[in-house]
Amino acid sequence: MGKGKGFGKVILFNEHFVVYGIPSIVSAIDLKTTAVVEKHTKNQVILDDQRPATKGYKEEKKKHRKESLNRILKKMEKENHPLKITLGGNLVAASGIGASAASCVAIARAINEEFNMELTEEEINAVAFEGEKGYHGSPSGVDNTAATYGGLIWFKKGAPDVMERLKIKTPLGIVMGNTGVVANTKLAVKNVRQKKEKYPCLYEKIFTHAEQVVEHAKEALMSYNLTELGECMNKNHSLLQKIAVSNKNLDFLVQLARETGALGAKLTGGGLGGYMVALTPGSTLQEKVARAITREGFYALKTRIGV
Ligand code: MEV
Repeated sequence: MGKGKGFGKVILFNEHFVVYGIPSIVSAIDLKTTAVVEKHTKNQVILDDQRPATKGYKEEKKKHRKESLNRILKKMEKENHPLKITLGGNLVAASGIGASAASCVAIARAINEEFNMELTEEEINAVAFEGEKGYHGSPSGVDNTAATYGGLIWFKKGAPDVMERLKIKTPLGIVMGNTGVVANTKLAVKNVRQKKEKYPCLYEKIFTHAEQVVEHAKEALMSYNLTELGECMNKNHSLLQKIAVSNKNLDFLVQLARETGALGAKLTGGGLGGYMVALTPGSTLQEKVARAITREGFYALKTRIGV
């Protein structure tokens, strides 16, 4: 029996822009997906998905999940092995929190253990990247990188990708609010690409701005200037609105978090549903923002970055 884990994640800056080589900041969160791989005698691969999940998520992602698993098995040269794979863990499978990447990493690690493949972390990440293609089409690699390595990361897609670990002086409290809407990241990424092609000048301006915001955010994060950091998150959300990946529920929760005292708030992940994230240092503020979100009937997750 082989076992593996992958972290959930929160993108703090530049989802979507990261697909085009603009730097991003991402953090793993303290929730994981687990995978157990067992050899069996029936001549097929069985995937038993026991993860807790947002309503409709598993049904909606079934096709993507299958394609993803086939890609992983092919990449690891295990497509002809009868395996039973069981997914579990405490990460609630939903859009925007890195559920697909966490599962890809967990499966890659579990297969690696079962077959004593002795893959490096880099190779596990490469397998997970292949698996992510089943969900995202052409992923940037930011999600699987966070799900593999954990921690707080500066990530820039390129040849090769740039991954820099960021160390901050004290972990920071955040609240993640779930709209409950299962979103299609593949579609969101495709929409951005089409609009970028249609309005090149406008999009170039927005993308330049996104690059400035993330550079500024990195300085604010490293100098622990939380007011500035929060403002950068707000600016990032406006840019994400401009490229049309936010929606009414996300904007509502972002606004609610800000009005309740969060230093900044933005959508996180692919958008069009899924999660938003609010910067809430200190347990009192974190509790207050989480309660405001819950009171409106949405799920709120309290967690930390930079642990
Ligand atoms: C999804 O979590 C993040 C996106 O930027 C897609 C990607 O980077 O692959 C929307």
